[in-house]
Amino acid sequence: MRTIEWEDNKLKLIDQTKLPDELTYVYCENYLEVIVAIRDMIVRGAPAIGVAAGFGMALAYLDDEDLDKAAEEIKAARPTAINLFWAVDRVLNSDNPLEEALKMYQEDIDTNMAIGKYGSEIIDDGDTVLTHCNAGALACVDYGTALGVFRAARDAGKNINVICDETRPRGQGASLSVWEMQQENIPVKLIPDVASGFLMSQGKIDKVVIGADRIAKGGVVNKIGSFMVAMAAKQHDVPFYVAAPLSTFDMEASIFDTIIEERDGDEVRYYGGARICPEGTEVINPAFDITPSEFITGIITENGIIDPI
Ligand code: MRU
Repeated sequence: MRTIEWEDNKLKLIDQTKLPDELTYVYCENYLEVIVAIRDMIVRGAPAIGVAAGFGMALAYLDDEDLDKAAEEIKAARPTAINLFWAVDRVLNSDNPLEEALKMYQEDIDTNMAIGKYGSEIIDDGDTVLTHCNAGALACVDYGTALGVFRAARDAGKNINVICDETRPRGQGASLSVWEMQQENIPVKLIPDVASGFLMSQGKIDKVVIGADRIAKGGVVNKIGSFMVAMAAKQHDVPFYVAAPLSTFDMEASIFDTIIEERDGDEVRYYGGARICPEGTEVINPAFDITPSEFITGIITENGIIDPI
């Protein structure tokens, strides 16, 4: 399954807002349509956003647009995942934007396979592993980071049971991670976000593996709720791993300086199309949180498993 494809000089994306009910595609014919796809979360997940943005730059190049302007506009689509900025700058500074975007596309797949290979070493036969949000094939070009670890462990002959947090408010765990694991016939169960601490206290979760939107000095930024899972894991001595490519790292910055995206309050006010609070209720809706390094057992990269920075 390819989340992103380059077809007839167009960017083809799985429309993730329609999953799990419909597997449909959106075609972007210019860089402005790529910005809309990133902003509206038709494509989401840090590595996928990065590669889509790279192809957005390639479309701008093919259309003879001002590349510096396109770069600034694409970077403004979402603020938190570092892969977006990394990819745009990489393509902007290349001799051939289309070739560079195609290179990034292939690298993403190769990188995730390598993360899977290293990550499968931490999975024991029979493990039940919790994941949060969707760090799967849908968050990348293919294969996934955290879910790539589960795929690799299964392919190495290990029995693995996956538990997905629902991941309110947008429900990427329920709609995307569960769907992906079901497609692979990997045993999977869905839990409400509030249940993981209790299940850990009952000895029902052996490990946690999540993805990352940004890794810098002091910790990891990932989907809102990751930090609460990490705290519960520390309390119960459950190993807590982050799986992410090196393109997600910023070795210079402090993680605490990350701009955390604040999304529309209606994502919280409404559930399944129905309002769940009094009309006009004020909402706080940060899309990501920061897990400090002391909560993280290890970071699984394409070069091996490293300590948090
Ligand atoms: O808001 P989203 O769906 O783009 O958030 C995605 C996540 O937080 C993922 O866990 C992260 O990008 C890692 S994906 C390999």
